[in-house]
Amino acid sequence: MAVLKAEQVTKIYGTKSNLTYKALENIGLEIGEGEFVGVMGPSGSGKTTLLNILATIDKPTSGHIEINGTDPAALSGKQLALFRRRELGFIFQDFNLLDTLSIRENIILPLALDKKPVAEIESRLKPCAELLGITAILDKRTYEVSGGQKQRAAIARAIIHRPSILLADELTGNLDSKAAKDVMESLKELNEQLGATIMMVTHDPFAASYCKRIVFIKDGKLFSELRRGANRQAFFQQILDSLSVLGGNFDEFSTARP
Ligand SMILES: Nc1ncnc2c1ncn2[C@@H]1O[C@H](COP(=O)(O)OP(=O)(O)O)[C@@H](O)[C@H]1O
Ligand SMILES: [Mg+2]
Repeated sequence: MAVLKAEQVTKIYGTKSNLTYKALENIGLEIGEGEFVGVMGPSGSGKTTLLNILATIDKPTSGHIEINGTDPAALSGKQLALFRRRELGFIFQDFNLLDTLSIRENIILPLALDKKPVAEIESRLKPCAELLGITAILDKRTYEVSGGQKQRAAIARAIIHRPSILLADELTGNLDSKAAKDVMESLKELNEQLGATIMMVTHDPFAASYCKRIVFIKDGKLFSELRRGANRQAFFQQILDSLSVLGGNFDEFSTARP
């Protein structure tokens, strides 16, 4: 069964002048368990709009989505909030950690809010922190650690409740290339060792080269798809080639071979 399904998803924004703007048109997408999917496209192509709809933060104008067989549109506000908290994990560009808490407190916050027993919290935290290489910094404050460490802590927070799918928007956007590499290696481990299902939006071809499949969108429509073979470097080159076919404005992206 697909973990995530989008069927004929269209999103039309209304603007101040009463004109409408079609940000997504008839998007169909299925993500199976254990997949690691990247969504790429030029600025303004609808990536964030799509992610917000899949994250149940926004609603499609027409079409529908399903997460683990549930259509979030069928849930009440309260049910939806609970559904989102249990089924989804989010990773943001700017980490969204609380500066008044330690790294450990940030990571376990979702479980503490769910009133899980302390022993269970500890037993989930340990392997998670080890896999992400952040065991040594658990008692530090957010301002005492690097950007890459913050993002790995944010990843730990996003997976500690074992969500059905991890959703990330430009998670390497605020990181230097070394930290971006560490973060992507961590995501790859999560995917390969724990079987985590991941979907990430990125305009960075280096980050995207860690995915197993890339979906390209242009002007709100699906444009093409790439699957990775054995070699990440070769995949990186294929991604660059696809981006040049796609055209459009990509802000700055590095074309240096990693
Ligand atoms: N709330 C909104 N109201 C009106 N237009 C929007 C809104 N959000 C996004 N858009 C427009 O929809 C298009 C897609 O935006 P977005 O999904 O943010 O693209 P991306 O993440 O690929 O850069 C853009 O043209 C953007 O200006
Ligand atoms: Mg965006």
